Amino acid sequence: MTFRVEVAADIAACVATVPIQEETWSGDVIVPPQLLLAIAHNAGFVALGYAEGDDRPAGFVAGFLGIHDHHFRHHSHMLAVRPEYRHTGLAVRLKEAQRDHCLDQGIETIGWTMDPLEARNARFNFAKLGTLTRTYHRDFYGAMPDKLNEGLPSDRIYIEWPIATDRADARLRGRDEVPTLEGAEREGVPYLLRADADRPMPGDPAAGESHLLLGIPCDFQDLKRRDRSLALEWRLAVRRALEPAFARGYAAVEFLRDASGERGAYLLFRQPPPGQRDAQPGGAGAEPLREEGGSSIRMGAQLP
Ligand SMILES: CC(C)(COP(=O)(O)OP(=O)(O)OC[C@H]1O[C@@H](n2cnc3c(N)ncnc32)[C@H](O)[C@@H]1OP(=O)(O)O)[C@@H](O)C(=O)NCCC(=O)NCCS
Repeated sequence: MTFRVEVAADIAACVATVPIQEETWSGDVIVPPQLLLAIAHNAGFVALGYAEGDDRPAGFVAGFLGIHDHHFRHHSHMLAVRPEYRHTGLAVRLKEAQRDHCLDQGIETIGWTMDPLEARNARFNFAKLGTLTRTYHRDFYGAMPDKLNEGLPSDRIYIEWPIATDRADARLRGRDEVPTLEGAEREGVPYLLRADADRPMPGDPAAGESHLLLGIPCDFQDLKRRDRSLALEWRLAVRRALEPAFARGYAAVEFLRDASGERGAYLLFRQPPPGQRDAQPGGAGAEPLREEGGSSIRMGAQLP
């Protein structure tokens, strides 16, 4: 499928995002096109993707300029691709265009929030873009009425995408080999939380482990439809696992899948204390995860 990405500069382009917003989340939570236009005209970025032969946009991305820890940072507020254009590469094209815009502005990090229980988004963010997270927000947006979020506390992880890195380049070009869940399990990386059938099962890893795994259900939206109270159990279990892990200095740097695609887990890596990070071989915060047979997979996460 061939796509073109068009940067939005007028109200018609911003209006064209509305049907995608409605289809993805629902009509109750639309970001008004006038606000998107104001963002686009004030250092932010709004872009739409079009498939050849289809006049309706296939997806869009929107974000604005912010300041984080005294540095300019782009905050990506929305990314959506219509269901019929998912798994086509368009989502990556939209993020690439956003990255180019930010690099031109001299910005080196794009941030956004993500539901930690959405395996598809985790795979997209961590494996295809090369993001990381070390921040957890409880019920960040409060009660949300839209179809993806309705009925559960809106806990979020804050995603950091260090865009001026070889890792981001390699992931976008599909050049980086992403470790597998089986590889990490063979290595004996312990689980902080795993799925036992459908249920969350906390692990008891030794203090000071360099790497940990945190499993999540493979389709959280389906689980919510089937069993709302189990979905809430998962929400609280992930919260109880991630909050203290982040407080102890871990960051999630990958989302690993098994060969069947039915099991997925975050790989957490304990960050060296500030001041020692650059001393790590291979770049800031990088540490090899060894697979059986001696080959090493460089985690390569940039932890600024
Ligand atoms: C998020 C979104 C833009 C990503 O676009 P996409 O076209 O689905 O993304 P891609 O297919 O390129 O990447 C998703 C990856 O997750 C994988 N995936 C899909 N379902 C999965 C699941 N249940 N578990 C694990 N991985 C899954 C895909 O196979 C793909 O990985 P692969 O190419 O390595 O196999 C799109 O899914 C979307 O619009 N979702 C609804 C809105 C939303 O959640 N926005 C983002 C908020 S952060």
